[in-house]
Amino acid sequence: MWVYLVSLLFHILSAMIWLGGMIFYVIVVMPVIRNPKVKEQKLTLLQLTALQFRKISYILFLLLFVSGLGMLYTKGYLVQGQFVSFFTSNIGYMFSLKIGLFLLLFLSSLYHDFVSGPKTFVFLENDPVMFERYRKLSGFFGRFNLLLSLGITVLGILVSRGVSVF
Ligand code: HEM
Repeated sequence: MWVYLVSLLFHILSAMIWLGGMIFYVIVVMPVIRNPKVKEQKLTLLQLTALQFRKISYILFLLLFVSGLGMLYTKGYLVQGQFVSFFTSNIGYMFSLKIGLFLLLFLSSLYHDFVSGPKTFVFLENDPVMFERYRKLSGFFGRFNLLLSLGITVLGILVSRGVSVF
């Protein structure tokens, strides 16, 4: 029982920090960075805060994955017979949808954090057209990741209460 409770605690805390951190970034950090008083430091601040958030993101993904597996294990769903009956149940479909969105979030975060984001700052120096293209792309993927994270959280809450739309 305690393995389940510890996993659940880590799972909920990681989800809070991940989703809360993203929302905090949008409603507090971004408006501060856009303040004309820090106009000179705007891009440095944007780059430093993004790199700091990137560092913790992948630790949180790992924690969410390991604690999620811990809960599945303690609920007995990873045993062979149970595994198939769980994943072919209505709740299992909801859970699979959540895992599918999680994988999409992981890939989309990798692209945003390691490709489009860094490229934006590289093109800042020498190519205004490419800079604008990657700036827009990074903005799109940032919003997409926030939306996916909200969806995953709602699915997590529904699954743990036995609610399925299937
Ligand atoms: C961004 C990623 C994720 C977020 C934001 C997230 C969020 C949540 C939330 C909010 C809950 C509901 C907790 C409750 O109200 O009791 C939950 C439950 C759950 N999550 Fe996740 N989750 C994520 C990824 C994962 C992954 C990758 C796995 C599996 C490897 C997983 C497995 C589970 C399980 C098994 C439950 C049900 C717990 C229970 O009812 O006992 N989650 N998740």
